[in-house]
Amino acid sequence: MHLLTPLLLLPPLLAQQTQAWGFYGHKTVALLASRYLLPETSTFVQTFLYRGQTIMDAAVWADRYAHIPLGRYSKTWHYIDAKDDPPRSCGVMYSRDCGGSGCIVSALVNMTARIQDEELPWAQRAQALRFILHFLGDIHQPLHTEHASLGGNLIKVHFHGTEINLHSAWDSRIIESFLGKPTERGIISLTNTLEDRINNGIYNPSAFSTWKNCLNTSAEETCPLVWANGANRWVCEYVLKDGDIKGKEIAGEYADGALPIIEESIAMAGFRLAGWLNMLVTGRDGLDEEEVLRGAKVGGAGVLEGTREGVEEVDRVIDRMIEEGERRFEGVRVQG
Ligand SMILES: *[C@@H]1O[C@H](CO)[C@@H](O)[C@H](O)[C@H]1NC(C)=O
Ligand SMILES: *[C@@H]1O[C@H](CO)[C@@H](O)[C@H](O)[C@H]1NC(C)=O
Repeated sequence: MHLLTPLLLLPPLLAQQTQAWGFYGHKTVALLASRYLLPETSTFVQTFLYRGQTIMDAAVWADRYAHIPLGRYSKTWHYIDAKDDPPRSCGVMYSRDCGGSGCIVSALVNMTARIQDEELPWAQRAQALRFILHFLGDIHQPLHTEHASLGGNLIKVHFHGTEINLHSAWDSRIIESFLGKPTERGIISLTNTLEDRINNGIYNPSAFSTWKNCLNTSAEETCPLVWANGANRWVCEYVLKDGDIKGKEIAGEYADGALPIIEESIAMAGFRLAGWLNMLVTGRDGLDEEEVLRGAKVGGAGVLEGTREGVEEVDRVIDRMIEEGERRFEGVRVQG
């Protein structure tokens, strides 16, 4: 099932300061979602993307934005810091864990309202879409729902002999070690695999039914909290199960066991993203079986690409700052 490709040896510097699923996570989540969008939803999404900008590009924008001074306020929106006690007890509590500058749950509520607000300028609704595409991914990464050791950022482990932190292992290093670099071809191939597994009922039916049982876009933080709690459960059940992972080599048993969790989390995130967007646009999630199979053909217009001509001034400014920021931090990967 999984092709074992040789580990890509990245310079150690690249392992630092990651803060989100890598490209495999985010781009696959977005592309997979595009396969389950109802036709009306596809049209809606396309009107909030520029011509030439794919849904996959849009899904990684929020990470780059968080790393420029202008976007720094949105950094805390990429996670929720559950102050639980893994591996003994796990759980996300909104009032306890969502800090004053906002968290992924409040940000999703906010952006879900903003994308629907017809009084807002187009560029702001387009940004709300980019945040939603990104946050639906992050909220399914277990260590984006955990406060302990700053979501694993402070836990140094070894992976094939290289020292990395546990957070980046879950963001990207583990999956990239199995699937290779997140090239477009690799992302499309992973998306196809996950889509096949969904459509062929490979996932445990009782677990799969939970993928679509909370997609109420009018219920404020209810559903984002359900998703965050689902991801957070893995922190106790797998990620920090043995407590003392610090300094250990995670290649082999640990990484092998993590891979299916990562893949299923990505599949779940993409499927829910489609349902969330369908709900926003049509009031139905569009994910019942017959529609899924039909949607896979209708909505799956390859790499969903924008229709909007021209780039708004505000986005041009932001893009310029991101580019300058990237030049300034050359050598330090701002994880997509
Ligand atoms: C929603 O986000 C906007 C920025 O995009 C911010 O100005 C506003 O305060 C946020 N509202 C809440 C309730 O978080
Ligand atoms: C969605 O949430 C709203 C607000 O809590 C509620 O009134 C509505 O009944 C919910 N819809 C469904 C289908 O559960």
